[in-house]
This record gives sequence, structure tokens and C-alpha cells, in this order.
Amino acid sequence: MIDRGIILAGGHGTRLSPLTKVTNKQLLPLYDKPLIYYPLSVLMLAGIKKILIIVNPYEINSYKKLLGDGSRLGINITYKEQKKPEGLPQAFIIGKDFINKNGVALILGDNFFYGQGLTLRLKDSLKKNKGSTIFLYPVNNPSQYGVVELNNKNKIKKISEKPKKTKSNLAITGLYLFNHEVINFSQKLRPSKRNELEITDLIKIYKKKNSLKVEQIGRGGSWLDTGTTKDLFDASLFVSTIEERQGLKIACIEEIALRNKWIDKKSIIKSIKFYGNCDYTNYLKKLI
Ligand code: DAU
Repeated sequence: MIDRGIILAGGHGTRLSPLTKVTNKQLLPLYDKPLIYYPLSVLMLAGIKKILIIVNPYEINSYKKLLGDGSRLGINITYKEQKKPEGLPQAFIIGKDFINKNGVALILGDNFFYGQGLTLRLKDSLKKNKGSTIFLYPVNNPSQYGVVELNNKNKIKKISEKPKKTKSNLAITGLYLFNHEVINFSQKLRPSKRNELEITDLIKIYKKKNSLKVEQIGRGGSWLDTGTTKDLFDASLFVSTIEERQGLKIACIEEIALRNKWIDKKSIIKSIKFYGNCDYTNYLKKLI
């Protein structure tokens, strides 16, 4: 059973510049809350309470100011620095002590997931994961992602990182499960042509060992990109549309903690004081 998760929120990205000249990408708003709330909510919904956030050295204090040690949410958050963006698998080298002899979930700090049934499936995968589990999603522009080609028996034929040409439209999303061997395997990886350790190379090791499982998030689920300012804007529109319609917030981390019975009303009152007078606070007030 995987009970811990890493959020990789390096925030070294330049594609959102000039916005990212003044703040870490994951602290930018996706509609009404910081981007980091979305991946954090995915882990919390799946029942994960032990969380390591990996961030660049310059912005670690902003994260600490926002989320602290997680006690306001009834969870445990620790932080580690990633000095340079040298690839996603570096998370497992930096997070070595945090993982120790356990399995771990990794979610990229800029990934947005939404949809009925996703939480249940993730919980099930956390229970069943033996080697690695990855989650695929159909996209229009597979060349921008890690891609999996399946054969007609749904068996993995090929895994590639940003292939120029591919017959598959199945992108590898930024949510991954690994057993403890991930530390060892990551330490053995060598940088790719773009000078990064590649998560797809790591996944290929598990495939070779016959211990890779793929789960498909069907078209009923949503996995949105936040890579460019337009992506971020579109994702914000998506959240605002659903929230307006339902009167319910997506990725309200205090609500999730309350529903999971990790906190009580007193902690919500603390959050209300922390945020001050705003729309998000009004929602928290309604909860209690
Ligand atoms: O989003 C899913 C995709 O993420 C996968 O389909 C690809 O297989 C995987 O390689 C990765 O693709 P990108 O190359 O687009 O990832 P990017 O470099 O944009 O990094 C994703 C997030 O992780 C971004 O918020 C920055 C952060 N990051 C990235 C690297 C390389 C770090 O914090 N540290 C890093 O070293």
C-alpha cells in the first residue's frame, strides 16, 4: 500500500515568463487558488497524508508560508530543494530518505486532474501497485508528452519521450506510482540528449522487468495542461465554469481534509483566519 507522495514543483520553468520571474509557477493562480492546490488535492483525495514537496531553493519559503507543515490540513508536509531542473527522476534521488523502503506516488506540481471515479481508481492502484503504475490520457498533441503505444491486446508496445511521429494518442500523465526500487533505478539513469534524467527511461526499466502497469483515464476524465499561459487560462476557465455551475469548489484542500475526517471545524476556522476576507474564505465558512 502506497501511503506517501512527492509533489515535484521545481518551478524553474521559463515558458510562463514573465509571470514566473516573480513567483514559482505552482504558486500562480489556477482560477481561485494556487496551482499547487490541484495536485495536492489529488494526493489527499487518494488518502495520502505524508507529502514531500520538492521546490527550487529560492521559493521554498513561500511554500512554507502557504502550507506550513500541513498540520492545518491534518497532513504531514516536508520540503526539499531541487537546485537545478535536471529531470523528473531526480525527485526520487532527492526524496531518497522520504521514500526509504516504501512505495511512492509522484505528481507533477503543474498537473490538473478532474473527473468522477478518478479518486477511487487511484486508491485502488495505490493498494495494488507492485512495480510501477502510470496513467494514460488521450490527447490531440501527443508529441509534446511521453507517449505509450499499445498493441491490440492492450499490451505496451513502445514508450517514447516526445516522439516526433507516433501512431498513438496516449500521453503519459504526470502522476506515477513506483515501488521502493525507484531510488536505485533513478540513480542508474544517465541524462538524455536534452540533458535531463527522463521519467520515460525509468518507466522503461519497469517495463523490461515486466512490472509496469498502465491505467487509462478515459475520455470522461480530465487531464489538462498548464504549460503555457494559454493552457493556464483555459484550465482556469474550466475550473470557473464547473465551480460557478455547482457552487462547489474543485481542489479545496481544507474541504477534502474535513471530509476525510483529518481535521475538525477548529482547523477550518484557523484557515479562515489565515486567508482573511476572500471568496475562498466565504466557501470555507459555508462548510462549517
Ligand atoms: O506532464 C506530463 C509530462 O511531463 C510527461 O508526459 C512526460 O513524459 C514528462 O517528461 C514530462 O514532460 P515535460 O518535459 O513537458 O515536463 P516539464 O519539463 O515541463 O516538467 C513538468 C513539471 O515538472 C514542471 O512544472 C516543471 C517541473 N520540473 C521539471 C523538471 C525537468 C521540476 O520541478 N524539476 C525538473 O527537473
